[in-house]
Amino acid sequence: MARKERITKDYPIIVANWKMNGLLRESMQLFKDIRTSILDSLIGCEVVICPPYTLLRDLAEKIPGTGVKMGGQNCHHLSDGAHTGEISAKMLKDMTCDFVILGHSERRTTINEGSELVKKKAETAHAQSLTTVICVGETLYERDNDLAKVVIREQVLHSIPKDATDQNTVIAYEPIWAIGTGTTPTMEQIGEMHKYIEHVVSEELKQFKNPPRVIYGGSISGDNAKSILSVDGVDGLLVGKASLDAKEFWKIIQAAG
Ligand code: PGA
Repeated sequence: MARKERITKDYPIIVANWKMNGLLRESMQLFKDIRTSILDSLIGCEVVICPPYTLLRDLAEKIPGTGVKMGGQNCHHLSDGAHTGEISAKMLKDMTCDFVILGHSERRTTINEGSELVKKKAETAHAQSLTTVICVGETLYERDNDLAKVVIREQVLHSIPKDATDQNTVIAYEPIWAIGTGTTPTMEQIGEMHKYIEHVVSEELKQFKNPPRVIYGGSISGDNAKSILSVDGVDGLLVGKASLDAKEFWKIIQAAG
């Protein structure tokens, strides 16, 4: 497999995960503030916003011409049918999404979403030409007990489908103990895990002709974004809480540029 082209380092991807936050008016204001900063400058990264489903339509109207892309936070593994409360990849595409986050640890842990299901969802999403952001991450218990790599390898191997390519798949390394806690791993720990993921992909996932982007998520802020992005193997960031504050998110975008 070819060595990851350094272009990913020069042009990182920043994915905002708004999670279950934001009512219509305040979220449109948040987007307006982000948009103003972006339009005033030349940004050196790809920016994707993943709002709650209720905001997709309104955001879809505001997003054209900004260079920002939109993504869903999940999708069903089937394309349509009797699945109350669910959303399909086709519906996300219909709302002009280009991305979808899958296998976030908040879904893996709270509703027991397993890797095999994540893989099926990814296949359905790829069939709709969505780029999947597939999340993997270990708990603190697993890290403390030297199980982090075992868990990450299992999640990577079982969550990524056969049709994955470097174009339609981004892997997000998100240690669960770093999400929403204000604690981040050391730069060495981040670098080691990103290298390990690259290694697993290149040795065991032969469907990738070129390496996919591997991004980091977990307590990213305007203050730590630059140093984390400078770690070898980090091709971008998945940002939760800090993406809900326009100034903070703008600092992260600047750090990436
Ligand atoms: P956080 O969330 O930045 O608030 O830690 C990251 C995520 O869950 O994707």
